[in-house]
Amino acid sequence: DWTMSAFKDEMIVAIQKQVGEGKVICGLSGGVDSSVAAILIHEAIGDQLTCVYVDTGMMRKGESEQVTSLFRDHYDINLIHVDAGEEFLGLLEGVSDPEQKRKIIGGTFIDIFEREAKSIGGAKFLAQGTLYPDVIESVSFDGGPSVTIKSHHNVGGLPERMDLELVEPLRELFKDEVRALGRELGLHADFVERHPFPGPGLAIRCPGEITAERLNILRDADAIYLDQIRKHGLYNDIWQAFAVILPVKTVGVMGDGRTYDYVLALRAVTSTDGMTADYYPYTHEFLGETATRIINEVRGVNRVVYDVTSKPPGTIEWE
Ligand code: XMP
Repeated sequence: DWTMSAFKDEMIVAIQKQVGEGKVICGLSGGVDSSVAAILIHEAIGDQLTCVYVDTGMMRKGESEQVTSLFRDHYDINLIHVDAGEEFLGLLEGVSDPEQKRKIIGGTFIDIFEREAKSIGGAKFLAQGTLYPDVIESVSFDGGPSVTIKSHHNVGGLPERMDLELVEPLRELFKDEVRALGRELGLHADFVERHPFPGPGLAIRCPGEITAERLNILRDADAIYLDQIRKHGLYNDIWQAFAVILPVKTVGVMGDGRTYDYVLALRAVTSTDGMTADYYPYTHEFLGETATRIINEVRGVNRVVYDVTSKPPGTIEWE
């Protein structure tokens, strides 16, 4: 793609100009955006870049291993793996307000990045895979007075209290353009096509108080749901699909016993940029089969519902 190749060359020059001889740390979330940003910056400044992957304890099943292996084995990029599950879950204990959760998570990420920036001998820059829609949606809605819909952790309120200068090479791009840039940079097709995954991770798919127990149930159910989607060849038709664990238990019956377990909601949408979205029209057969698998295979869930809300009026994530 000629346009992307020209954009890539321009960005490489711009990154070199912005950072000079300085060191950069880049937060990797496991998503496409931060991965593309990291690889682009690595092409521009090589070893001046160190990537930081923060395991928040709220990642999907297998995510940490996948990201670590991609960056360590396929690319020769400096990578620090921070195991911060206890720190995050401790700070989130008893918190159920969505914005408060996002603020705590965003603040903790910054604390960790600042710590790691010092540990590598003083990085001056923090790179992030912020996209154009992240910028718009965090700032205002409908171009009117500023109303924050959600504080995206990679945008909202960071600069004021941070020692690090931001490097955000994807700030003007939409998702499909980031994917094209990823291909241009040689990122594997499977990775380029990955569904978006939000920085706050499973925290925003766990309405109410986040507990290790509910996160484990969510992780297992989400993995089965995605396995079903892949098995049915639907992954690439869907913008994003995930499970949400509700803070509600309902009564059910299994064998000849009563159950009292959590409700799980399934979400899947089509979209081109994440700013508007339609719910995905699965067949009833697919939904039934998936619900049965989740209830049979995951302890702690006895009811599955499907979210048929488009955006607007719903947002894609539940928080
Ligand atoms: P919403 O829920 O606002 O989501 O309709 C739109 C898209 O953005 C993703 N999202 C985030 N991504 N940090 C991110 O990097 C965040 O804080 C964040 N919140 C939502 C969401 O997964 C969807 O793709």
